[in-house]
Amino acid sequence: PGPVRYVVGNWKMQLEHQQGMKLATGIADGLRAMGPIPVQTVVCPSFTQLYGVHEILEHADLPEDRLALGAQDCYPAPSGPFTGDISAQMLAGLGVKYVILGHSERRQNHHETDAIVRQKVKAATAAGLVPIVCIGEHLTERNEGRAASVLASQIEGSLTRDFRGMIAYEPVWAIGSGVMPSRRELCHKLKLISALLPMHLTADGQTIPLLYGGSVTAALAPSILSIPDLAGVLVGSASLQASSFLGIVKVAA
Ligand code: G3H
Repeated sequence: PGPVRYVVGNWKMQLEHQQGMKLATGIADGLRAMGPIPVQTVVCPSFTQLYGVHEILEHADLPEDRLALGAQDCYPAPSGPFTGDISAQMLAGLGVKYVILGHSERRQNHHETDAIVRQKVKAATAAGLVPIVCIGEHLTERNEGRAASVLASQIEGSLTRDFRGMIAYEPVWAIGSGVMPSRRELCHKLKLISALLPMHLTADGQTIPLLYGGSVTAALAPSILSIPDLAGVLVGSASLQASSFLGIVKVAA
């Protein structure tokens, strides 16, 4: 059998509570029907839906290496007077295994710098969560030929030297736009990231799974997931319906 592939669904700030529960149930049912496949599926609902989805996964009769729970962010400190924030410890206590960090929407809307992302990586790792760190260039940076230096500085700034987790390459211009890098461009960027990692990390960078995110659909998944350097995908819109999300999981299998 080949290596495990990852299909991670980022629900973002979408879905009413009951819709989220229905989606989690549909995904669990669909995965059970597929039988054993070498795909780690992860669902990342909003904070308010984590507990409910956790309960559904608990009773789903699927091992955690088939279907696991992820969160979309965490706070750098383990606890304290931080009104409105959620710590990595709290997430771990709820059965969360993965946490998306440094998503471009957070970098943009919450002014998260690489330094903040790195603190969150440390907190997540200390709590036993697997960080999924998002990096990616803006369109102007790409068009001006600055993508490589942007990715290098995000890697250097956001990751701890002993980083153990996953990296999601999400070109900002491909998120929610229906536009994707060509296969050639994506291969080139993944190779670049693979080459940058060992320069920054003390551990072997090649062992860090690389995901791609940005307008991934079941129709586009076969071409994306056939890229050898890619371990999986981080899916936004297409993760909000069980049928489209499971379609991507099928391709990954
Ligand atoms: O985290 C997911 C990404 O931002 C991709 O979102 O699939 O809706 O483009 P999208």
